[in-house]
Amino acid sequence: MIPMKQYRFALIGCGRISKNHIAAAAANRDIMELAAVCDLKPERAEKKAEDCLQATGKKPAVYTDYHKMLKEIPADCVAIATESGYHARIALDCIRSGKHTLVEKPMALSTADAEQMIREAKEHGVTLGVCHQNRFNDPIQQLHKALEDGRFGRLVSGSARILWNRSMPYYQQAPWRGTWAQDGGTLMNQCIHGIDLLQWCLGGEPDTIMAMTGNYLRDIEAEDFGAVLVRFKNGAIGMIEGTACIYPKNLEETLSISGETGTAVIGGLAVNRVETWNFAAPAPQDAAVKKLSGTDPKDVYGSGHNALYRNFITAIDTHTEPLVSGTEGIKGMKIILAAYKSQKTGLPVKFDDLEFSTLDMTHADVKVKSIS
Ligand SMILES: NC(=O)c1ccc[n+]([C@@H]2O[C@H](COP(=O)([O-])OP(=O)(O)OC[C@H]3O[C@@H](n4cnc5c(N)ncnc54)[C@H](O)[C@@H]3O)[C@@H](O)[C@H]2O)c1
Repeated sequence: MIPMKQYRFALIGCGRISKNHIAAAAANRDIMELAAVCDLKPERAEKKAEDCLQATGKKPAVYTDYHKMLKEIPADCVAIATESGYHARIALDCIRSGKHTLVEKPMALSTADAEQMIREAKEHGVTLGVCHQNRFNDPIQQLHKALEDGRFGRLVSGSARILWNRSMPYYQQAPWRGTWAQDGGTLMNQCIHGIDLLQWCLGGEPDTIMAMTGNYLRDIEAEDFGAVLVRFKNGAIGMIEGTACIYPKNLEETLSISGETGTAVIGGLAVNRVETWNFAAPAPQDAAVKKLSGTDPKDVYGSGHNALYRNFITAIDTHTEPLVSGTEGIKGMKIILAAYKSQKTGLPVKFDDLEFSTLDMTHADVKVKSIS
């Protein structure tokens, strides 16, 4: 087999999640090199360049202006890890300069922006990927294989429960969090991974979304709790319970899928542990899968970025679609935007027709008062 070429990456945004991108560069150093890092805050970019030197033996160039970086660094690919509200603008600049573009979740904050990113990536012949790294967790991969093998029979229902805690210091540390212009609430920021997994496992074709969301405890614009129902085109129903209000700390992120001949529950802190694995017809891998009930990852981000980067690069190299392409990445985001629209209007929302943005929530009062 011909060895893959080394793909040169540039990273835009050197904040909290960038450590996973540096770790991915180190884990995949046989097929990639982080050639440059960029942040508006030079000390952040410098720190990540040093971290990368420690992790890979090579120090990336440091930039504060990504336009300059795109002109000067002959990168094949760009990873974007800025505030969510900037993803679309920066991604379109990267796509238009011919770079394969890997964007943190959510890929954008409006259906129009996400659709434009997908359209323009296709027009410019570049690959677009979205960081839903939990799809690469071993138990999730096994669950999806069981679905592909038809082991669940007719799908009936599934649930995503994201019972986490985000306290005020988390929001104060980066004031863009919890705002409609830059982020959205806990559904868009924290729960989108679980929502992506739920839609991926229940057939990926949502039909109708109904939601009740609200802001209970945190002093932010957007919701800190959401309950969402999704009817899929295959008839299955998905239920989402997503919250940043669990006392006193992160409790669980659990995905459960239930069909005529199978039930699987993957839980733990961040969908890493097999809790239930029951199928009518046994398969040779079952004993090994049931053992995937070990320890939780160090933090809720897990280490899925390593596998996600490898999948993204392999897709570019083989002219195939990455597992989490733009077309896939838009789905979780769109379910959440539909939930926001449902909260705003009090009505069920059709997935296919949806045009909505977090900015459409700007004047929606989501503060929850007691109903007396
Ligand atoms: N995949 C995951 O599990 C995961 C986890 C956490 C965050 N995220 C996502 O990653 C993104 C970043 O989150 P974070 O918590 O790291 O945020 P952060 O606030 O810690 O970091 C964002 C960084 O981007 C920089 N930036 C903004 N505009 C820029 C520009 N034009 N050029 C260069 N740098 C720029 C900021 O200066 C800041 O340092 C968000 O979209 C978030 O939703 C994903």
